[in-house]
Amino acid sequence: MGRTVICPGSFDPVTFGHIDIITRAAGMFDHVIVGVFINMEKKPNFTVEERIGFLKRTVGHLPNVEIVGFDGLLADYARERGATAIVRGLRAVSDFEYEFQMALTNRKLNPELDTVFFASDAQYTYLSSSIVKNVASLGGDISNFVPACIYDEIFERLNTKGNH
Ligand code: PNS
Repeated sequence: MGRTVICPGSFDPVTFGHIDIITRAAGMFDHVIVGVFINMEKKPNFTVEERIGFLKRTVGHLPNVEIVGFDGLLADYARERGATAIVRGLRAVSDFEYEFQMALTNRKLNPELDTVFFASDAQYTYLSSSIVKNVASLGGDISNFVPACIYDEIFERLNTKGNH
């Protein structure tokens, strides 16, 4: 089946930044598993089914991209699925410490698992799911952050001001 990689994240919700990284990974590798971490501790705003649904609507058209939920250790899930690398986006130096720690931990847990970093596209270096949640919760326009096909669902859920 060629080279399989896993692109893990909370995707709560997916943003243009994630979509850019997933699309670029799909152009480089044979099979990209987008793994939505079922993390109840982080208290996500969207259920795993909703997060998977948003991803399906935005990157589901890419033929070599598979979207799944996963629980437990990423290193174990990657081994189970035969993934040789984790793909993560790096936006700024501030991401580096956390990402480096995760990469080294995952390699300790699964020595066959490398982490590949994609430099985020310059236009998305400021963007995160937290920014989307923060802006939408205050009734702000999130059209620069998430695609139109998922905008309403995300905005209506997050906007606590109800002025839309
Ligand atoms: O989008 P996020 O929230 O930055 O993604 C973080 C994620 C899901 C990649 C990370 O929390 C993760 O891999 N969780 C799975 C549990 C695990 O393997 N933990 C140990 C690795 S440090």
